Amino acid sequence: MTRRCLCPGSFDPVTNGHVDIVERAAELYDEVIVAVLHNPAKRGAFALAERLELLAEATAHLDNVAIEEFSGQLLVDVCKQVRAQAIVKGLRSGTDFAYELPMARMNRHLTGVETVFLPGDPRFEHVSSSLVKEVAGLGGDVSALVPAPVWERLRRFGA
Ligand code: PNS
Repeated sequence: MTRRCLCPGSFDPVTNGHVDIVERAAELYDEVIVAVLHNPAKRGAFALAERLELLAEATAHLDNVAIEEFSGQLLVDVCKQVRAQAIVKGLRSGTDFAYELPMARMNRHLTGVETVFLPGDPRFEHVSSSLVKEVAGLGGDVSALVPAPVWERLRRFGA
């Protein structure tokens, strides 16, 4: 049986913290689906097409990783659709754990799908999509915290 997991998120935009989790998931599973979940009624800072493109560039070195987009669906239904046995998420802190635990329990309640938590690398403990956008938008240097194409985009256009 192919061991397949789902790494879900908004990825608005992808950060080095996300890439670290996807790389580690790709070591643990045969296949990783990075699921970009979006709300068509809500425009993110980065357009959906751009988020997908930046993620594809950031994971191009991983041959068992695919990027897919979904909207208006429960995560558990996405898991069924792509036949993923587990959801993989990174935890930066206890705050992340407190936020993620009820969702993991709810998802397991709904279909039995398991959530696997990976401890975030301390190098990226302070890194989130919203913080890198805010800092870069005000002229700060976050080049070490995001993939090069994301930094190029943030540097040129702000967020
Ligand atoms: O990157 P984010 O914004 O933290 O990702 C959150 C996301 C998209 C993974 C989460 O909001 C989600 O799972 N949305 C899908 C809708 C759903 O299944 N909601 C019930 C969760 S118990």
